[in-house]
Amino acid sequence: MRLHLLLASAATVTEAVFLVATDQLQDAAGFSIQLPGHALASAAQIHKDTAAAVSPILGCTTSSFSIPSWFVYNLTYYRDDDTATFSIVNRATNYTADIGCNNATADESKPNLYSHCQILTDPATNDDALLALVRVTQKGTAANVLLRQTWTCNDRNTTAQPIKFSAAGNSSVPLKCGNGINCPAVDSTLLVRGNLAAPVAIHPAPAEGPIGHSKAGCSAATTKPPSWSLQSVYYLNQTGDNGATALSSQTLMLQVINHAIGYQAGCTGFLSDDLSTKPVSFTCTGQGYDFIGKDRYRISTQALFEPATFNFTVNQTWYCDDVDAGKPVSITASGSTVLPLNCTSVAVGSGATSGNKTTCLSTSDILVQAQKPGTATPLPPYSITDPLPTPDGCTVSSIVGPAWTMSSFEIDSDAKSNNTLAGTNITDVGFNLQFSTGTNEFTYPVSVYQGKPVDGKPQWFHCTFGADQIPLAPYNCTFTYDDAKKQLMLAADWICSDLDKANPILFSGTTTTAVTKPFSCSTDGGQTQCLTDETATWNAPIVNVTWRPADKNVLAPS
Ligand SMILES: *[C@@H]1O[C@H](CO)[C@@H](O)[C@H](O)[C@H]1NC(C)=O
Ligand SMILES: *[C@@H]1O[C@H](CO)[C@@H](O)[C@H](O)[C@H]1NC(C)=O
Ligand SMILES: *[C@@H]1O[C@H](CO)[C@@H](O)[C@H](O)[C@H]1NC(C)=O
Ligand SMILES: *[C@@H]1O[C@H](CO)[C@@H](O)[C@H](O)[C@H]1NC(C)=O
Ligand SMILES: *[C@@H]1O[C@H](CO)[C@@H](O)[C@H](O)[C@H]1NC(C)=O
Ligand SMILES: *[C@@H]1O[C@H](CO)[C@@H](O)[C@H](O)[C@H]1NC(C)=O
Ligand SMILES: *[C@@H]1O[C@H](CO)[C@@H](O)[C@H](O)[C@H]1NC(C)=O
Ligand SMILES: *[C@@H]1O[C@H](CO)[C@@H](O)[C@H](O)[C@H]1NC(C)=O
Ligand SMILES: *[C@@H]1O[C@H](CO)[C@@H](O)[C@H](O)[C@H]1NC(C)=O
Ligand SMILES: *[C@@H]1O[C@H](CO)[C@@H](O)[C@H](O)[C@H]1NC(C)=O
Ligand SMILES: *[C@@H]1O[C@H](CO)[C@@H](O)[C@H](O)[C@H]1NC(C)=O
Ligand SMILES: *[C@@H]1O[C@H](CO)[C@@H](O)[C@H](O)[C@H]1NC(C)=O
Repeated sequence: MRLHLLLASAATVTEAVFLVATDQLQDAAGFSIQLPGHALASAAQIHKDTAAAVSPILGCTTSSFSIPSWFVYNLTYYRDDDTATFSIVNRATNYTADIGCNNATADESKPNLYSHCQILTDPATNDDALLALVRVTQKGTAANVLLRQTWTCNDRNTTAQPIKFSAAGNSSVPLKCGNGINCPAVDSTLLVRGNLAAPVAIHPAPAEGPIGHSKAGCSAATTKPPSWSLQSVYYLNQTGDNGATALSSQTLMLQVINHAIGYQAGCTGFLSDDLSTKPVSFTCTGQGYDFIGKDRYRISTQALFEPATFNFTVNQTWYCDDVDAGKPVSITASGSTVLPLNCTSVAVGSGATSGNKTTCLSTSDILVQAQKPGTATPLPPYSITDPLPTPDGCTVSSIVGPAWTMSSFEIDSDAKSNNTLAGTNITDVGFNLQFSTGTNEFTYPVSVYQGKPVDGKPQWFHCTFGADQIPLAPYNCTFTYDDAKKQLMLAADWICSDLDKANPILFSGTTTTAVTKPFSCSTDGGQTQCLTDETATWNAPIVNVTWRPADKNVLAPS
């Protein structure tokens, strides 16, 4: 309410914002806002509050590339004076601001009219780096918040300059007015995902999240005991015949299906080989891609089996944001049942060492009903679809510390050739290039061969690649080799799409590197081939890096 009063007393003139194209907004001050997120290149100043983080992986730079977004808290629309207030937190920088908007209600005849909000935290220096717009529906049933901000991160010192980011995004939320004048947002915390316009134009994709997290009914287990189905149950108890033809073993195999989320886990328990009846617990393996590790949370399933009674217990933890993505929870629940199995026994071997093999199967799906609701643990807002922080991939490496890993440098010479590098007998130069990233997504080096001369650049050659090879890094290049200085100069383009498959980025940069590794040479018929040792690699930084959107056709469908 303090914000509200502050706003009402500030005699500010709101500026209308109107749409000039279906996905392009322009406000009265001349800002042009494209949605989603491209090219918001206003000369916005850098906010002084931008915090530097210590961790290179979890800090400002990584977050800015992976989750450029804002939390909007306490969004409230006030019917009496048509104002709205809210607070924002930039998730990459932790920048916070309190915001107030006059004339918040939209004119329904102008579907893209937004109100230009005031930043109340520091009204004296209304911050150009942040633009906040709001549009409340005429009946006060929903609000759309649009944010655009520019900031810098200086948590990496691999580049001389702090990295400048610009992002924009919008999000809408239902309001609940009740009878009073205050209409708070239904979702306590609202997430506004941003699209980056700078340093690269990308739409960072949220993670898929663990299976079933948004399925209606996922979190019902917090109030109603959940249930599972067990399928294809197989139990084996084989005494063996002292190893003559069979070893003793005891195994339980089954599938567990969580009814709330449709998630299936496979459980294989290798129970005690001494055939004792002591209870054994084991971990089940989940379906789908949840084990690849892109998701921040992973469904886990534990099984407990008592061979003496066939009592089977499942204990599972799963993740839900079906009710409110701003309030995700993990749910842990367990249920037990005595497995109704159909057992048959046959003799194994014969004579003194003869044994007994008992096989038990389920005859139909077995229901496991929990006795009580699951235990819910709150998780950070929207964290279920936040990508897991990873080491620097192609895009981030290209901006914070681009370098080639060079190897297998080869120089071919022929004293009889007319077609050599100036002042040498060198006919061909070749080498291997691998773009360096923290994730090693470019697993193999690309072999570069000397192609046609570059028009108008004496001693420069186009790169050619191995037969049928269409590499992304490098995508194309030209180079020249100075034999006297043993120095390679390389101008290369490379393509990154790791953060946004739909918007590949073409980077360009140059490299000057000395070839100091020893060569081994062999001569055959007047032709000499010299090659650095296969294991000799070196790091060659890339400088003067520029980038632009790549032609989308460059990426082969994967
Ligand atoms: C933002 O705050 C969180 C929680 O306090 C902290 O872990 C994170 O490092 C901060 N980020 C920056 C960029 O300061
Ligand atoms: C939201 O409002 C509550 C209650 O007034 C307050 O405690 C909380 O600090 C506010 N959150 C933010 C981010 O301003
Ligand atoms: C905004 O509201 C004020 C009163 O609070 C009113 O005088 C003004 O005309 C409104 N502006 C627009 C663009 O509706
Ligand atoms: C940053 O530079 C300093 C001094 O040059 C160095 O000690 C530190 O390890 C560097 N940090 C990172 C994250 O590269
Ligand atoms: C397995 O079978 C053997 C022989 O029938 C029996 O002695 C043993 O108790 C059984 N073990 C379990 C765990 O049921
Ligand atoms: C089965 O095991 C669970 C977990 O140990 C236990 O709570 C339950 O009482 C057992 N049921 C039977 C029938 O033994
Ligand atoms: C289920 O597993 C969780 C986590 O491993 C554990 O804390 C909990 O005690 C287990 N519950 C039961 C009933 O086994
Ligand atoms: C149990 O298994 C035996 C042998 O496979 C089979 O003949 C019998 O029909 C099964 N009983 C039930 C109830 O399915
Ligand atoms: C095999 O084991 C089962 C279950 O323990 C038992 O009922 C059966 O009599 C045993 N058969 C032999 C030949 O030992
Ligand atoms: C090299 O030049 C000589 C004379 O100009 C010519 O006869 C010969 O064919 C050329 N050799 C090659 C490999 O081009
Ligand atoms: C080229 O090869 C010839 C014959 O091997 C040699 O005499 C000459 O010095 C070489 N020239 C250069 C520039 O290496
Ligand atoms: C790569 O190819 C494009 C288009 O063919 C060209 O404009 C660019 O100069 C090339 N880059 C390099 C480093 O050769």
